[in-house]
Amino acid sequence: MSEFQAADMEQRAFARNGMRVPVVGTGTWRTFDVRGRAADDRRLVTDAALAAGATLFDSSPMYGEAERVLGRTLEGRRDRALVATKVWSADDGEAEAQIARALAYFGGRVDIYQVHNLVAWKSRLDRLARLQAEGMVSVVGITHYSPRAFDELQLAMRDTRVGAIQIPYNPQERDVERAILPAAADLGLGVIVMRPFGSGGLLRRPIAPEALAPLAPFGVRTWPQALLKWILSDPRCHVAIPATSHADHLLENAEAGAPPWFGPDERDYVSRLV
Ligand SMILES: NC(=O)c1ccc[n+]([C@@H]2O[C@H](COP(=O)([O-])OP(=O)(O)OC[C@H]3O[C@@H](n4cnc5c(N)ncnc54)[C@H](OP(=O)(O)O)[C@@H]3O)[C@@H](O)[C@H]2O)c1
Repeated sequence: MSEFQAADMEQRAFARNGMRVPVVGTGTWRTFDVRGRAADDRRLVTDAALAAGATLFDSSPMYGEAERVLGRTLEGRRDRALVATKVWSADDGEAEAQIARALAYFGGRVDIYQVHNLVAWKSRLDRLARLQAEGMVSVVGITHYSPRAFDELQLAMRDTRVGAIQIPYNPQERDVERAILPAAADLGLGVIVMRPFGSGGLLRRPIAPEALAPLAPFGVRTWPQALLKWILSDPRCHVAIPATSHADHLLENAEAGAPPWFGPDERDYVSRLV
């Protein structure tokens, strides 16, 4: 039985704005896009996240029901969470409607409000910066999942209103190492890591328990924990946001959120297991 407690979860601060985040958070793409009984069940996932300290929740209007379901699971305890959501539309009217819905779901404020996939990013940054000035948003962010957009992402990162980026990073998707992570560190931006398990693809091939034995001194028992520790051992990454629909998976993932961190040898070892 795990003895991991919320207090064990490491917190890291974004240099530019001082926001402190837990190193393991909770994604909601697909896992919270559910209705009916399944939506009620997701409260158990949020219970587990709050208990384990994985209290940064990432969502988007692109994820169907996810924002609404997340908001419901946080009813009565919104103050214990950091909500990172997104605006995702080229249409100004639709963007306003998305913002109004998110503010209603999340108690009138969003902790990290991101421009999803850089859609209309210049106008959306204007709008999110106004919300920030009005006290409804703490940090403004930008996201993209595709290396094809990383030149534009780098350009947008230099806008001084941006305080955080969300990018994919795992042993099979390492494009951010070339320019994005160094630039984020130089600019003091928060780095939120999406797709830590390659949207589940990295978990499909079984890894023999014996192969994980060398990682036991790092508190790693399972392959998902090895992947999370691989990411978080890079100090330029502030929080990884694995998504899950199971409370036990969430607790397992949260256990990767404490030192000791891997050195270069362990990171190479995990990369070779992929
Ligand atoms: N901005 C963007 O463009 C963008 C794009 C993609 C993702 N994101 C964000 O990043 C988050 C994470 O990425 P993702 O959802 O694509 O994928 P992911 O977190 O890499 O993988 C999720 C998958 O891993 C499984 N899983 C999680 N923990 C597990 C465990 N301990 N044992 C076994 N299976 C486990 C989940 O299944 P179970 O439900 O069975 O646990 C789910 O199928 C998203 O939810 C979203 O918030 C953003």
